[in-house]
Amino acid sequence: MSLLQEIEKRRTFGIVSHPDAGKTTLTEKLLLFGGAIREAGAVKSNKIRKGATSDFMEIERQRGISVATSVMGFEYDNIKINILDTPGHKDFAEDTYRTLTAVDSVIVVIDVAKGVEEQTEKLVNVCRMRNIPIIVFINKLDREGKDPFELLDEIEQKLSIRVRPLSWPIGMGKKLQGVYNIYEEKLNFFESSAAKFKTEESLELSNISTKTLEPHIGNEAAELLLEELDLIEGVYPDFSVDAYRKGEVSPVFFGSALNNFGVKELLDCFIEIAPHPQPKETEGRVIDPIEEKFTGFVFKIHANMDPNHRDRLAFVKIVSGTFKRNTPYLHVRLSKKLKFSSPTAFMASKKTVIDEAYPGDIVGIHDTGNMKIGDSLTSGEKIKFKGLPSFSPEFFRYIENGDPMKSKQLNKGVDQLMDEGVAQLFTKNNNGRKIIGTVGPLQFDVIEYRLQHEYGATPRYEQLPVHKACWPTGSDTDIAELKRKKHNYMAKDKHGNNVFIADSGYALMMAQQNFPDIQFRFTSEEQ
Ligand code: G4P
Repeated sequence: MSLLQEIEKRRTFGIVSHPDAGKTTLTEKLLLFGGAIREAGAVKSNKIRKGATSDFMEIERQRGISVATSVMGFEYDNIKINILDTPGHKDFAEDTYRTLTAVDSVIVVIDVAKGVEEQTEKLVNVCRMRNIPIIVFINKLDREGKDPFELLDEIEQKLSIRVRPLSWPIGMGKKLQGVYNIYEEKLNFFESSAAKFKTEESLELSNISTKTLEPHIGNEAAELLLEELDLIEGVYPDFSVDAYRKGEVSPVFFGSALNNFGVKELLDCFIEIAPHPQPKETEGRVIDPIEEKFTGFVFKIHANMDPNHRDRLAFVKIVSGTFKRNTPYLHVRLSKKLKFSSPTAFMASKKTVIDEAYPGDIVGIHDTGNMKIGDSLTSGEKIKFKGLPSFSPEFFRYIENGDPMKSKQLNKGVDQLMDEGVAQLFTKNNNGRKIIGTVGPLQFDVIEYRLQHEYGATPRYEQLPVHKACWPTGSDTDIAELKRKKHNYMAKDKHGNNVFIADSGYALMMAQQNFPDIQFRFTSEEQ
């Protein structure tokens, strides 16, 4: 197969949702369609169980699951699909943001009763910033929920996206009869089947009228459906694949993942319209997947959970060309050639060693400490991919060494955990103290536990009141002046960038006022 055919065959995407909307259930049904798993229940939810946030076994369990479900690949209708897992828990949001740099599109799952929830809003925001094409799946139609039109309005308002329904529910909850698939002009009948996997009944019905619909769904539902479809045609623009791929309009499907209803329609439409691997911007130029020379970048690192084996698994997204096993590639940051003897591909939860991989694929590489999130691998060109920012953390603590004999262990552990992207490290300019910044409080427990158990270190935290950390940019003179005036509040991040640690909203506002030419940024591109 030519490189172009390999590229056109691939779809790499993420499913994002607020916890409990049905991401795991939908993933599982998609894998069932792809034949990647045989029975329901095979995909474990990677969410942190409620009330278990201080239970370290729970953290380990979650980490175990997230290794297995990080990438789930399968073939469906001759299309190679890679689903990248995105943790729903807000304390792991940064991991999700980074994973979104490796997808070409997303499916957003929304609970029909709960509507747009907080985490969905945050994640879709990140997708919108990058113009990632979005398909919306409104789930749990077997339950009573919001009025579909109201829900679409809510989605448009809260997520700031334009929508276009491609299927429409006929009833809801106990009265759910099915959906009309506008895209395929088919009527799909609902039959509750949580346990078994089946293809639902459907009927092609392109010229719909009360007469053709009535025998199947009854007069009342037929009239309502026709009225609503009329309204849809009047209110929403015609669906355009082009507009969807540019991130300008999001098609919407209705269904029930648990009942395996509406999932096949979603998948069939997805493989037809979702973009294959797309070009990616670097600091110098845009790399096209069809370029023959291999390029790729690391977007995720997983530590080995067995403390006796220090190696880690780096997840590399192939951007262009063909990746080959045992071929020396340039690790751009280290200016060093590296060869990989056992790169793995992920088919469902199985890992297999592969000889070749193509754009859109995710390859797992065993790493003994060379890889950092954001690193580029190439056939020789010195490039750096854009769009892997650090986000301003929201929780901060000093980290100290509780045992003077173990400072080496602590430094090494902190270093490696930061490379994995678990949290961010800042070093204060005035006293050299180290501050850990995270997006959620749970991360502190994870870090402490892992430092103790994997590195034999004795970390100790100390609270510190910080409102926000931000990255100032401006002229050398302005930055020098800021560093002089705010000496006690300046630090360096792991890459040596200047960071302003504002202890209150007021302090940040004053700094912004006093230094109007400095931009205080809340994300930083990783260096
Ligand atoms: P998440 O990954 O987005 O967090 O959600 P997950 O799939 O774990 O689903 C959350 C809960 O919603 C689960 O119930 C799941 O069974 C249920 N669910 C998913 N899709 C549907 C649907 O279409 N209809 C209905 N009625 N429920 C749905 P749970 O009780 O929390 O877990 P479980 O014990 O069933 O696994």
